[in-house]
Amino acid sequence: MMISSGSGCKDRIQYLKWTLTIFAPNKALFKLQEQNIVRNRKVTMPMTQQRATARAHPNIAFVKYWGNRNHALRLPSSPSLSMNLAGLHAETTVTWADELDEDIFTLNDQRMTGESLSRVSRHLDALRARLGIAKFAAVESHNNFPTGAGIASSAAAFAALTLAGTAAAGVSLDERELSAIARLGSGSAARSIPSGFVQWHAADQHEQSYAESIAPPDHWALVDVIAVVSQSHKAVGSTEGHRSAETSDLQGARVAGAAERLAICRQAILERDFTSLAEVVEHDSNLMHAVMMTSRPPLFYWQPASLLIMEKVRQWRAEGLRVCYTLDAGANVHCICVKDDADAVTQALGRLSEVQEVRTAGVGGGAVIIEHSLPT
Ligand code: DP6
Repeated sequence: MMISSGSGCKDRIQYLKWTLTIFAPNKALFKLQEQNIVRNRKVTMPMTQQRATARAHPNIAFVKYWGNRNHALRLPSSPSLSMNLAGLHAETTVTWADELDEDIFTLNDQRMTGESLSRVSRHLDALRARLGIAKFAAVESHNNFPTGAGIASSAAAFAALTLAGTAAAGVSLDERELSAIARLGSGSAARSIPSGFVQWHAADQHEQSYAESIAPPDHWALVDVIAVVSQSHKAVGSTEGHRSAETSDLQGARVAGAAERLAICRQAILERDFTSLAEVVEHDSNLMHAVMMTSRPPLFYWQPASLLIMEKVRQWRAEGLRVCYTLDAGANVHCICVKDDADAVTQALGRLSEVQEVRTAGVGGGAVIIEHSLPT
């Protein structure tokens, strides 16, 4: 279904119109799509441009997503659970415009080309097909956190892109569907649509693999204190990493136990039980990295400084601080702690010469529309 993106060809509009007639895995979706086309027509007939801006937070997973049962649709091998990160966000404006003859993507005021543009354009293809749009889009995105700060930006980026693209089309989709569509752009983006503490379901069908909130941000004042030990770009990105997971003998065992770990984690959050949370969060992170290290070829994201901090965190917890660690596909260490202990953790990390920088984020809300302008 996907077409090579960034191609400015005129044939592409024709292709997009064609995809509208066939991109419908079932009749229900097709009907909805038809309704949206009609609804869009009503809204859009006199207009040449439709624009909206959305904001979404990145998230940190407590039970990780690593490996897909379907790579093209980003249907994960196992369910996952995360917390949105307040104060950090991607802000994305989508303008669907008759005047454009190709998609345009700017990130932090820089015009993007190559694979970044292609990935955005492929996601726009999915939105066009679902929303019944046969126009190209200008996408302008800004992150308020630097790349290389140990925070994956794709989750916030694709959540914001999905919501802005949908709102700009004058279509209102429910949170569940927005989450499933965001997942097509980046798996973890599914978890940046709902608010607070979020669970993402693993399933065989596109419609069934979405994320939902299990508790709002004010349910539990947790803080992610991020110890930045490396600013360098990761050698192997998540998308490639997910493909390599199945080459590890350990992935089967990791996946087999994921539902149970998720249930324990979910319960710990609902009961605000930090002892139980710490145990399952660290164990799940270790399992994912064990899979990474035993994949063929192996992926080593930990650095000596990461291991040192993991050791310190366990020591601080034994001494009474409510803190635990988790690491994504990178060397930086996310120290999850209760708010009352966040200052102590930040100061302790700041005293380590291996730590280049410390960033903190509380529990964030879901993706929101911040501007919806009716066009000129
Ligand atoms: C290690 O969602 O970044 O952070 O679907 O290819 O965009 P793509 O991957 P991505 O993978 C995130 C992996 C992780 C664990 C997690 O966030 O659950």
